Amino acid sequence: MNIDGKTRLLGLLGDPVEHTMSPVIHNTLSDVLGFNEVYVPFHTTSEGLKNAVKGAYDLNILGMNATVPHKNAVMDMLVDIDAGAKAIGAVNTLVRVEGGYKGYNTDMMGLSRELDVYGISLKERNAVILGAGGAARAVAYMCAAKGCKKVFILNRTLQKAEGIASDMNRYFKKDIFLPVLLADYEKLYDEYNDEKFVVFQSTSIGLAPHNEDVVIDDSRFYELIDVGIDLIYNPFETKFMRLCRENGAKAYNGLRMLLYQGIIAYELWNNISVAEDVADIVYNKMLK
Ligand code: ATR
Repeated sequence: MNIDGKTRLLGLLGDPVEHTMSPVIHNTLSDVLGFNEVYVPFHTTSEGLKNAVKGAYDLNILGMNATVPHKNAVMDMLVDIDAGAKAIGAVNTLVRVEGGYKGYNTDMMGLSRELDVYGISLKERNAVILGAGGAARAVAYMCAAKGCKKVFILNRTLQKAEGIASDMNRYFKKDIFLPVLLADYEKLYDEYNDEKFVVFQSTSIGLAPHNEDVVIDDSRFYELIDVGIDLIYNPFETKFMRLCRENGAKAYNGLRMLLYQGIIAYELWNNISVAEDVADIVYNKMLK
């Protein structure tokens, strides 16, 4: 990497930022594509966020990512927000525009791209989302945007599943989201057993070092699945994925979603499309 007078700066706003994989994604893209750009993590507190965004604009920083705990708060500091990000209520990518930054949610866009790459269609499919946190909201938006027939949101705290379901039903002007108490998951095979589900695992259960934990441990549930996607990528193979496979379903982890959220951010910053063979080079770098 040769930093010179023309080098453009990209970065990450987060607290903490030490464990982020984003610099690997973006700096590999700059290397492979020959772009004179550098991506650095900026450890930014909640108190300092507003000044950081303003300062970034004044420093001519081309684009940034926002991660925990800033994905909601940063929305107040932008000049424009993409419709999808607004509906989800979270921004993870800031793109420099006239007068400030425009916010996007490339987490949702990244998951959508992953499904396209794997040839998984959600059109007229029934989906299940396990969990009702911030990540679940992005998954829910994508399910509706990609044409799901019904989306069951299962959560330990029913109220949070109800919140996402009612927000999304209102936004999409359709009655497709149904909240279900996690403990009542058997309802799915009692009442909707005519076809298999695409299941998105968006809880923190199974995250390392708790590799043997799983949100539902009942093979009857896994028999209902034909595709299972765990948003977790550490461990690389979760118990949820293993149970999916043991019961005949395809299973994927969250690393490709992470890859594509980064690639889409980079595409937005540079107004380019990144080819799949380049995406694969980045993916292999992430595995190291
Ligand atoms: P993220 O932003 O990554 O989605 P989050 O907002 O903290 O993270 O959401 C974590 C999700 O994991 C929630 O759905 C949470 O359930 P609650 O809403 O009931 O808290 C779920 N979760 C975490 N630990 C859990 C556990 N031991 N059992 C069941 N669900 C759990």
